[in-house]
Amino acid sequence: MNVLVIGSGGREHAIVHKMKQDGIKNIYCAPGNAGIEELATCVPLKVDDVRGLVDFALEKKVYLTVVGPESALQAGVVDAFTASGLTIFGPTRQAALLETSKSFAKTLLKKYDIPSPHFEVFDTSADALDYAGTIAYPAVIKADGIAAGKGVIIVADRSQAAAAIRDIMDNRVFGDAGKVVLIEEFLKGAESSYFVVANERGFVPLGSARDYKRLCDHDDGPNTGGMGALSPSDKLSPQLEEKVVNKIVSPLMGALEKEGIVYRGVLYAGLMIVGGEPYVLEFNARFGDPETQALLPRLEGEMIGILTDSAKGRTFSDRLSLRQDVSVCVVMASKGYPAGPQANTVIEGLKDAVGKDIFIFHAGTKNERGVIKTAGGRVLGVTALGENAHGARERVYKAINSIVFDGAQFRSDIGL
Ligand code: AMP
Ligand code: GLY
Repeated sequence: MNVLVIGSGGREHAIVHKMKQDGIKNIYCAPGNAGIEELATCVPLKVDDVRGLVDFALEKKVYLTVVGPESALQAGVVDAFTASGLTIFGPTRQAALLETSKSFAKTLLKKYDIPSPHFEVFDTSADALDYAGTIAYPAVIKADGIAAGKGVIIVADRSQAAAAIRDIMDNRVFGDAGKVVLIEEFLKGAESSYFVVANERGFVPLGSARDYKRLCDHDDGPNTGGMGALSPSDKLSPQLEEKVVNKIVSPLMGALEKEGIVYRGVLYAGLMIVGGEPYVLEFNARFGDPETQALLPRLEGEMIGILTDSAKGRTFSDRLSLRQDVSVCVVMASKGYPAGPQANTVIEGLKDAVGKDIFIFHAGTKNERGVIKTAGGRVLGVTALGENAHGARERVYKAINSIVFDGAQFRSDIGL
């Protein structure tokens, strides 16, 4: 059986690793990285090279393709694979609007009474600026489209709001993602992410995680793609998870059905918990990164069957079961990340860091004649399982201490 994974991050390494555990012999990854290369055949195709990916999958008779990043979804990879008769795990471009257009997602949530902060949508800066003069602060200004995780600005007062609106809509700092903005009520609470695998026939819960978005300890410093993850989230009790399923996931599935939208793939809900109630901040139409690097090592049993059921639109034949253990993933990033990451630094100590229930997932790495070097912002995700967060933390930081590269940045408070 041939399987193809699209992407090159720690998330994709975790997916490939799980597939290997599932007994899949022939795994391709496009484009992959130096860690993935040890488990799969890496193919030098970009994640948005739709034609190239389809041709490759047809030639190799790929049984199932799994999409990592949202850029591939937005490029229409799923639509093109499906049109060519190939089986692919992920939503179509239309269904991925849940992630790629915040106004689409929020309007759907509002129409079906699914809890989410109050918002208004604007397509001219003049209207947005007027509205900014009438609201309470802090507030949240969001570019409608995807902006590499940077399109959300929390503003303390009207003048900050005006600056953000002008930057997004008039100066187009996020390009076309800023044609439309949303102005949203600010919610104060505890954040968590919740994941399910879905299709038009139902969904299978995949569990929860907490993401650490800021660069530095105690949530200081600039926003990043994610500097670590804890799974399960310490902010989502089993009772709260039940609420998330009953008040958010199930009603959303009903809403998609009523709207005639077939959604296949991972559905990732970014949540804020306020006064014991979950509210949706955003949806992502894919596995989270680094959350997946914490989540997948907890999975017991096979994953491939559930992804295939989702992709083929079949009734799920199985549930996913998770180990009780707590998982902590700590991201090691390059010097200069996120503003200007430096590449080409030699990474040492990778072999010494591995152990039972310790996983070194590669992200921005490359293999130059046997020497592993940095090749991007987020370089590695180191995950350890433990009986509790304390135990997992001890093990993950012990592993991290044996990995050395110049200028490495990582947080010391993941899971604390
Ligand atoms: P998003 O991409 O919409 O999840 O937003 C990115 C981050 O901005 C979230 O993870 C939150 O930390 C923060 N955020 C977004 N919306 C709100 C909101 N309505 N209230 C408070 N914080 C928010
Ligand atoms: N860690 C956040 C994301 O994957 O979007």
